[in-house]
Amino acid sequence: MAKFSSVSLVQLFLSATGVLAGLKVDVNDVASVKKAAAIVAEDLMSFYKGEIPGLLPGPPPAGDYYQWTGGALWASMLDYRSRTGDKQYDEKISEGLLWQRGPNHDFLSPNWTLTTANDDQAIWAMAALLATETGFTEPGGDDPKWLAIAQNVFDEQSSESRRVDNGSCAGGLRWQISPVSNGYNWIATVANVAYANLGARLSLQDRKNETRPQLVEDTFDWLETSKFIDSNFNVYDGAQAFDCDETNKLQFSYVSAFALESAAIMFNSTGEEKWKTLVDGLTKRTIAVFFPDGVAKEVACESTECNTDMTFFKSFLHRSLASTMKVAPYTADLILPVLKTSAAAAAKSCTGGDNERLCGLTWSGSFDNQTGAGSQMSVLSALLSLLPAETVADSPGSSTGGSETSSSTTPSPTSTDGSPESSTIPGNSGSHVGVSSIVLLGGLALVSFVLN
Ligand SMILES: *[C@@H]1O[C@H](CO)[C@@H](O)[C@H](O)[C@H]1NC(C)=O
Ligand SMILES: *[C@@H]1O[C@H](CO)[C@@H](O)[C@H](O)[C@H]1NC(C)=O
Ligand SMILES: *[C@@H]1O[C@H](CO)[C@@H](O)[C@H](O)[C@H]1NC(C)=O
Ligand SMILES: *[C@@H]1O[C@H](CO)[C@@H](O)[C@H](O)[C@H]1NC(C)=O
Ligand SMILES: *[C@@H]1O[C@H](CO)[C@@H](O)[C@H](O)[C@H]1NC(C)=O
Repeated sequence: MAKFSSVSLVQLFLSATGVLAGLKVDVNDVASVKKAAAIVAEDLMSFYKGEIPGLLPGPPPAGDYYQWTGGALWASMLDYRSRTGDKQYDEKISEGLLWQRGPNHDFLSPNWTLTTANDDQAIWAMAALLATETGFTEPGGDDPKWLAIAQNVFDEQSSESRRVDNGSCAGGLRWQISPVSNGYNWIATVANVAYANLGARLSLQDRKNETRPQLVEDTFDWLETSKFIDSNFNVYDGAQAFDCDETNKLQFSYVSAFALESAAIMFNSTGEEKWKTLVDGLTKRTIAVFFPDGVAKEVACESTECNTDMTFFKSFLHRSLASTMKVAPYTADLILPVLKTSAAAAAKSCTGGDNERLCGLTWSGSFDNQTGAGSQMSVLSALLSLLPAETVADSPGSSTGGSETSSSTTPSPTSTDGSPESSTIPGNSGSHVGVSSIVLLGGLALVSFVLN
């Protein structure tokens, strides 16, 4: 962005003088967070060349990025769009999502039949669902809407053919989809919590349908009975079918975060104590495990070596925590302070690469030179998690147009341009707003953010 050159000079000066450099951001200031997010988003998009529209370039065996990371990219860019109002990437997002949607409108591209896993498909579906939730331009023409595509995926994953049919973890969603894949008999927790996440969010879109919330509840019951989530709210990696009797106890941040966000949505729509217990337990445990010293860490790998996939997980972690605060506002007391310390540390890691502002993977200590789309996306989501999400509708006749107007049946408050916006980010939950925002006006706006 235009401001970059001066930021860069400042950084050069600071690194030359040995002062801690990094992307400049004031995590209590909306404008500052937006500005930093714009820079990080721009650099994230520099990893996307669109050779195969929709994917980050170079899927294995030629490169590092699996197909699912494209879905992660578009979700993070939709999140960026809705929290900053910046629509400059609309065409790329749309093209990328549509390209991968597949002949059956379910994000199963024949190109990836052998490797696709249920969680990969779900992550693409979650991006489509986020498009619906944030008022993104619908595909238009005869194409199904984003919501319909996400529903297709959920329905396919509900089917018995995707699930374990005997043994003591019968009912669980498998990891890979094809019976000839090595991962067919692996029961990945992430596949099941991503499925639950889709189901919970879909049920907010269609409150009349009682099947989806029931399926989400069944999934959680199964996760707990099969000890994928233990009584201390640890969320483990997975286990081998058919009995799932030897759980792999590694914990990855996005797995816990998907579970938490799903439970929070269920608590929001049912008010049931059962869900509150899960929300409270998962919130505390997720923070305790994945935010040592208030800074996000992919604990299973960061101290040794994370593979490329794992470098993306902290993006989902921050995004799901932000969503959790939205649907269960009382959790902001615990969540918002760590999102702030984490985002501040994340931004400080952005000192690398040729442009001296690419982000690293580890956010405590000095720059680790582990640059890549995953590191970039994680920092982007950390920053965005501090901003309120808005429905950003298509403006009529906008340059991104071509397609029909946005679906939006729900006339949510749009923040196209000049929306009322708070300029400071709340110090804590509504009840503590006064602590960090002394200006009363700011405080009022903040209360509305927290309660939104
Ligand atoms: C599938 O692979 C072909 C050949 O590489 C490519 O042209 C096409 O764009 C790919 N389709 C998708 C959806 O990735
Ligand atoms: C489940 O089915 C598979 C194959 O259909 C079989 O190999 C396995 O023994 C069965 N397990 C149980 C516990 O019935
Ligand atoms: C309700 O949800 C289930 C599960 O997604 C789906 O199969 C069914 O078609 C939905 N019913 C209606 C009337 O939309
Ligand atoms: C449910 O979520 C909405 C935001 O989607 C929020 O405004 C509302 O306060 C939540 N309800 C409860 C009971 O937490
Ligand atoms: C940082 O990583 C890049 C490749 O990603 C490499 O070219 C460069 O030499 C590394 N720098 C240091 C100081 O290790």
